[in-house]
Parts: sequence; structure tokens; C-alpha cells
Amino acid sequence: MPDHTFRVNGEQVTVNASGDVRLLWVLRDLLGITGPKYGCGIAVCQACTSHVNGEAVNLCAIPVQDLRPDDEVTTIEGLATGQELHPMQQAWLDHDVAQCGYCQPGQIMAAVALVRRLAAEGREITDADLDGIRNICRCGTYFRIREAIKAGARNM
Ligand code: FES
Ligand code: FES
Repeated sequence: MPDHTFRVNGEQVTVNASGDVRLLWVLRDLLGITGPKYGCGIAVCQACTSHVNGEAVNLCAIPVQDLRPDDEVTTIEGLATGQELHPMQQAWLDHDVAQCGYCQPGQIMAAVALVRRLAAEGREITDADLDGIRNICRCGTYFRIREAIKAGARNM
């Protein structure tokens, strides 16, 4: 099987895997990075949402062979800097968002990517933007998610 080299949470990694294996399973099973969750495996539930080069993506839809050595994958494990939680993570705690917690890493990563994109466009998050987040929460924590995203966005 071929080697694949890319960056994860600031470090370069090389894995040996079939090229069509999806990045979600490379991270979880080969690299032990389990923040991105497996929900559906078909790019629907968004539980695996993480960032590739700053953009929110579904890792279950990306063959590992598509990554280049300078591509930067960021998972929930790489969001905080140093000892400080990312402002969105802190907002999640402040609003006591999580219930079972399974969907929450994906929710936070989707929220951070969205707020950053809107900031780059020079505008603040709106209810219509929040409506566009498609991450499923089977526990129904949507109200608290929306409140936390608005609070986190104010501190980013
Ligand atoms: S596990 Fe990736 S979208 Fe559901
Ligand atoms: S908190 Fe349980 S699935 Fe979202």
C-alpha cells in the first residue's frame, strides 16, 4: 500500500493505507485522533466535520490519496492554542450545550469555519447563516448550539 503525507493539527504525518480509504478512518484508526465522529459515513450527518486548509469538510468523504503534503487537517483536538480553549469551545461550556456529546466536535468545527468565513466577508453571523448549518444532533440541542455560536462568534 502507498504512503500518504499531510499535516494534522500542526504536525506532518505519513500513513500507509489504500488510497481510497477515507480520511475519517485514517485519523481514527491509524492515527488515534478520535474527535471527528463516525455517524453515517456518507457525508450526511456531519458528525465528522473538521477543517482541511481552514474549510469545513466531511472527513468521511475524502479519500486519503487526495491530500497533498502541505494540506493542513485540523480536528477538534487542534482547535485550542496552548492551554486556552478556543472561544467557541468556551462558549459551548458556558452554554452547557452538550447532551450525549457525540455530534458536538463536528458542530463546533462547523461553527468555527462558518464564523471565520463570514468575518473574511466582513459581516457578522445571522439567523439565516445559522439555519445553513446542517450538522445533525440526535439529542436536539439546536437551541443551545445557536446561542453558543453567537456568543463564540463575539469572542473570535
Ligand atoms: S460520518 Fe461524515 S457526514 Fe456522517
Ligand atoms: S448532543 Fe447528542 S447527538 Fe448532539
